[in-house]
Amino acid sequence: MTAADAPLSLSDSARIDDLISRMTIEEKLGQLNLLTADLATTGPSVRGDYVEEIRKGRVGGLFNAYGRDFTREMQRLAVEETRLGVPLLFAFDVIHGHRTIFPVPLGEAASWDLDLMERTARLAAAEAAGEGLHWTFAPMLDVCRDPRWGRIVEGPGESAFLSMHIARAKVRGYQGGDLAASDTLAATAKHIGAYGAPRAGRDYETADVSERTLREIYLPPFRAAVEAGVASIMPSFNDLAGVPATANEALLDGIVRGEWGFGGLFVSDYEAVEELKAHGIAADDADAARQALAAGLDMDMQSATFIAHLGDGVRDGTAPLARIDAAVRRVLELKARLGLFDDPYRRCREPAASAEDLTGAARDAARRSIVLLRNVGEALPLRRGDGGALRTLAVIGPLADAGREMLGSWAGAGDPDKAVAILAGIEAALAGSGTRVLHAAGCPIESGEDEDITGAVATARQADAVVLCLGEAAWMSGEAACRSSLDLPGRQQALAEAVLDAAAERGVPVIAVLTSGRPLALPWLEARASAILQTWFLGSQAGRAVADVLFGDWNPSGRLPVTVPRSLGQVPIHHDQRPTGRPPSDNWYSSKYLDVRAEPLYPFGFGLSYTRFRYDALRLSADSLPIGDAAGIEIAVDVTNAGPRDGEETVQLYVRDLVASVARPVRELRGFAKLRLAPGETGTASFRLAPDDFAFVRRDMSVGPEPGEFEIAAGPNVADLPLRSRFRLDADARS
Ligand code: BGC
Repeated sequence: MTAADAPLSLSDSARIDDLISRMTIEEKLGQLNLLTADLATTGPSVRGDYVEEIRKGRVGGLFNAYGRDFTREMQRLAVEETRLGVPLLFAFDVIHGHRTIFPVPLGEAASWDLDLMERTARLAAAEAAGEGLHWTFAPMLDVCRDPRWGRIVEGPGESAFLSMHIARAKVRGYQGGDLAASDTLAATAKHIGAYGAPRAGRDYETADVSERTLREIYLPPFRAAVEAGVASIMPSFNDLAGVPATANEALLDGIVRGEWGFGGLFVSDYEAVEELKAHGIAADDADAARQALAAGLDMDMQSATFIAHLGDGVRDGTAPLARIDAAVRRVLELKARLGLFDDPYRRCREPAASAEDLTGAARDAARRSIVLLRNVGEALPLRRGDGGALRTLAVIGPLADAGREMLGSWAGAGDPDKAVAILAGIEAALAGSGTRVLHAAGCPIESGEDEDITGAVATARQADAVVLCLGEAAWMSGEAACRSSLDLPGRQQALAEAVLDAAAERGVPVIAVLTSGRPLALPWLEARASAILQTWFLGSQAGRAVADVLFGDWNPSGRLPVTVPRSLGQVPIHHDQRPTGRPPSDNWYSSKYLDVRAEPLYPFGFGLSYTRFRYDALRLSADSLPIGDAAGIEIAVDVTNAGPRDGEETVQLYVRDLVASVARPVRELRGFAKLRLAPGETGTASFRLAPDDFAFVRRDMSVGPEPGEFEIAAGPNVADLPLRSRFRLDADARS
């Protein structure tokens, strides 16, 4: 039993029955009305009249609403000044931290560390709950294979399998074991409906994916969240093959409630109900409200169409009262599970997380999210001080002294001025070491006036090593922040090339530190930099974490949760593509480009370490299994740390269904395990695969495995799988 679907106590059930029996239609619709407070804006418009609306009992919850005094006062209005005294829900987008900001979700996904992800969600929930919050619109579970889409930064990456694990970890983290505890938040799995597959990578665009791809790639993380007991689900803004998710009864009522048995709350996205008019499927607000209700939506975020029009709908028979009662019940059940009927003020009293825990976790999460993409001649780690011949270090680039950028998009109530810049982190790490630090920005992040590439080159010329901090500003990814290019913005490439030229003349290493909310396609940098760190947006402790990795206080362990293309023309690109009849080869008539190689710049799962790992034995407990044998097979892989330092390896297991009724991906991630190993130490990663782990949407659209042969492969990333074996699923004797 999980937090959000545990049975309600008899007294709560009775209270809800009693309330519903006494509510007027307007009071019922009030419970379905979710309005933004004016503390923050996360959408196009704000309704300023929410205080009056609360007094009239016409509001069920407020979002963008936090702070102990504010929430206590709003709650008092609802509890003391409305006829029935039903408490409000307070919600906020606590996406990767509340005030203490952890790495952006795509960055944290690069840690492949589920315990860490659960822990950061737990801490974020505790910090947010200490400011009156009950409910977060997270985790964002939109699988994405197109880095033009700005919201790739908010999600779990390209793998449905990794995303399912992240979904469970995040729901557990936010919701804890008991939603009524004062340090938990109800979670929201968002945004269901293939939001991560917008046409041409532009936000809010149509997603026209096949039902097979929908069920195999885009829906599984949401199903995993439902199985973990997620309290609510948010349909996406986009239409799915012509039907907007907000009014998509086949998706909401059919698949999520019908097939998966979801009993929680569907909350719309920001004004998504009234946007059904702009989609061209509703004639007016009343029509939009009726369609969304009929599809299964419970709560209307910020459109206020339910409260304005469903009363008439009940009277003229177009909005069934039973459907409204069911939605009201779900809202009240969530309030009961959060303990609000017992003590509506509980979460506006004491901070629930210690500052020390939060800061320590932010630094740890940040360094575990960094991916080392390149390291020639052991350029990294840098050796501090004279002894290491690092007398002078130049820290160059517009992202070096850019603390405010480090939080990334959807940074909750985080204070950008308190984030540690990369330069500050480096200076702190070098204090007293004898290494002098020089700094020059060289150019702004985007094009702008204050460019001084010549000055930056002169600074670089004085140094024994250069750390080149390049990338995107925080606002360049996130909602509505899509790009048509995967290059560095502004004049950064010119800056980088000038610095690389100067360093090459003197034989000085250049370490590139990339800050970005999406993979950038920078093959020229890969060809020239001595080392490259992909650091995403690392949050409050960014600079400390980058310094930990630069100076070897942390051995980098991040692995890419997305494929990094060499060119935008390769997009969409992902590891689990289907085979073609003419795979890339030297033959002219093969699947290729004339002007760029077919392979990505860095493959899915890739990431280097300061040590080396050797993969040895792949052992299967059986080489065949009856398809009905749910116990499955055991798989073990031995990995040895063959290098000089402690290190963490992420052992990855991929499968391929060699012959099936439908073409199956060339490689599909089906397992991963983290091993921490001392030099010389051997560890074993163990996996279990059951027949259902080979399930897919078969040719007749039924779901399940098919008998036949499979390749099992293990290694450090999808393009480097040294261990391979075959395995058979046998048809049941009975069938
Ligand atoms: C976003 C959601 C978010 C909501 C509330 C919308 O614009 O799409 O992800 O939860 O605003 O802030």
